[in-house]
Amino acid sequence: MRKLRSQSWFGGNDKDGFIHRSWMKSQGIPHDEFDGRPVIGICNTWSELTPCNAHFRELAEYVKRGVREAGGLPLEFPVMSLGESNLRPTAMLFRNLASMDVEESIRGNPIDGVILLVGCDKTTPALLMGAASCNLPALAVSGGPMLNGRYRGSTLGSGTGVWQMSEEVRAGTMSQQEFIDAESCMNRSRGHCMTMGTASTMASMVESLGMGLPHNAAIPAVDARRQVLAHLAGRRIVEMVRDDVTMDKILTREAFENAIRTNAAIGGSTNAVVHLIALAKRIGVDLKLEDWELGSSVPCLVNLQPSGEYLMEDFYYAGGLPAVLRQLGEQGLLHRDALTVNGKSIWDNVCDAPNYDQKVITTFAESFKPHAGIAVLRGNLAPNGAVIKPSAATTSLLKHRGRAVVFENVEELHAKIDDDSLDIDEHCVMVLKGAGPKGYPGFAEVGNMPLPKKVLQKGITDMVRISDGRMSGTAYGTVVLHVSPEAAAGGPLALVQTGDMIELDVDARRLHLDVSDEELERRRAAWQAPEPPARGYYRLYVEHVLQADQGADLDFLVGASGAPVPRESH
Ligand code: FES
Repeated sequence: MRKLRSQSWFGGNDKDGFIHRSWMKSQGIPHDEFDGRPVIGICNTWSELTPCNAHFRELAEYVKRGVREAGGLPLEFPVMSLGESNLRPTAMLFRNLASMDVEESIRGNPIDGVILLVGCDKTTPALLMGAASCNLPALAVSGGPMLNGRYRGSTLGSGTGVWQMSEEVRAGTMSQQEFIDAESCMNRSRGHCMTMGTASTMASMVESLGMGLPHNAAIPAVDARRQVLAHLAGRRIVEMVRDDVTMDKILTREAFENAIRTNAAIGGSTNAVVHLIALAKRIGVDLKLEDWELGSSVPCLVNLQPSGEYLMEDFYYAGGLPAVLRQLGEQGLLHRDALTVNGKSIWDNVCDAPNYDQKVITTFAESFKPHAGIAVLRGNLAPNGAVIKPSAATTSLLKHRGRAVVFENVEELHAKIDDDSLDIDEHCVMVLKGAGPKGYPGFAEVGNMPLPKKVLQKGITDMVRISDGRMSGTAYGTVVLHVSPEAAAGGPLALVQTGDMIELDVDARRLHLDVSDEELERRRAAWQAPEPPARGYYRLYVEHVLQADQGADLDFLVGASGAPVPRESH
């Protein structure tokens, strides 16, 4: 075992050793716990403002049991928590800030290995990214999904149900009181969203990357097996420190390719594109937007909302992610030797995984959706790329030419969308600007724009929508996202005007603005960049954020600095 970095704090008998131990002893820690045993940080995103992670103090106790059993010293510490449902303007604005908190909290403290307690959407990438820049042994424990929502005898999925019901209220087919009644039926237990939204997707990414233990993705938050998983993670991280299993040994290019194919097989969120690219760049893997096409040959196997019918609880009972990974492995679509945090290869973990319910986890022979994954579009409207999730789109709209109806920002969208005088029908292409990383700022989840009321009232449920924003993982529709460069950075999206014709051809991976280059140049000459925010983190963010195709990290955070022991200050 390498010399433990915690011993630079706790190991000496000089003044500094006294100081470091003495203050820690005020918490009731016996002297012999500073004897050179691995110190395990438990990086906790608990917060009552992040309801999806509100059970994490309890979960941390199970991690501590495991750490102590294995002969380690667990020390829990808080980091900035990002609650998707409350944090404004968007939790994504603070993903990179939280990752800085994580990185510096780990590096600046006597920590040898770290458990990352992750759950609500952005908490997972934020903690993985921060830890990756330190590259210590790390193991992620997801908090688990909520139990299935139930409303009037039917299942009700987090997020997805809101999008559906709010459109029904606008269309006049659901009453306001029914809508309010559904609130307490949807999110009725601890845990994160139980659709295959961003949180469930990222928990699956944790498992497919090898950064979590088997079944990390799907055990419900309230199931005692989630506590067992946390307990076992506590035991295992101590061994990982002793064996020096740093993150770069797990987060290899092969691991990212496994995760991309897994994302396709589970019908995962488009948000994973941005998060995995950012994570890869922290650990030194050159993952590109085009690499997401690896998922194009993978069918969607998992029949979960928003693309399908079931929810995460059903997914766990059907066999969970191991049953999906096994099928990928059998089809030659998994790098079988990729190392995982339990010390085994990913194939060793899943080669015998059962599938108990082929309605929920379908097979390659009879897949839920033959075309899945993320399609990467290019064209004069998105020179650096854009993405669409075909499995969540309407098949007939995947090739479409229509007249643009442009909204310059989210405020204009909301002000005009239900205006009867808005010249729009279902054949139009809705275009939203100012929702990208710099634009909003923070890269908001507004890409799945609400449809105009007058279109909804015709019974139409989908239109082509294009923006530089993101979409909630629980949302659906023919929605082109992450257009890069974004409008606020002067991308061609900034130059689109109402009345322009736009062509979308997903099979050809094409997104074209049917306006001449000369006309676009004329418009560009008149374009003015938006004013940057006056001060504070907003300003730092806007000045340094990278575009969507680069993972929307801050430019100065890309890469890693390892975890050298900082200079002593006493
Ligand atoms: Fe937290 Fe959906 S709001 S995971």
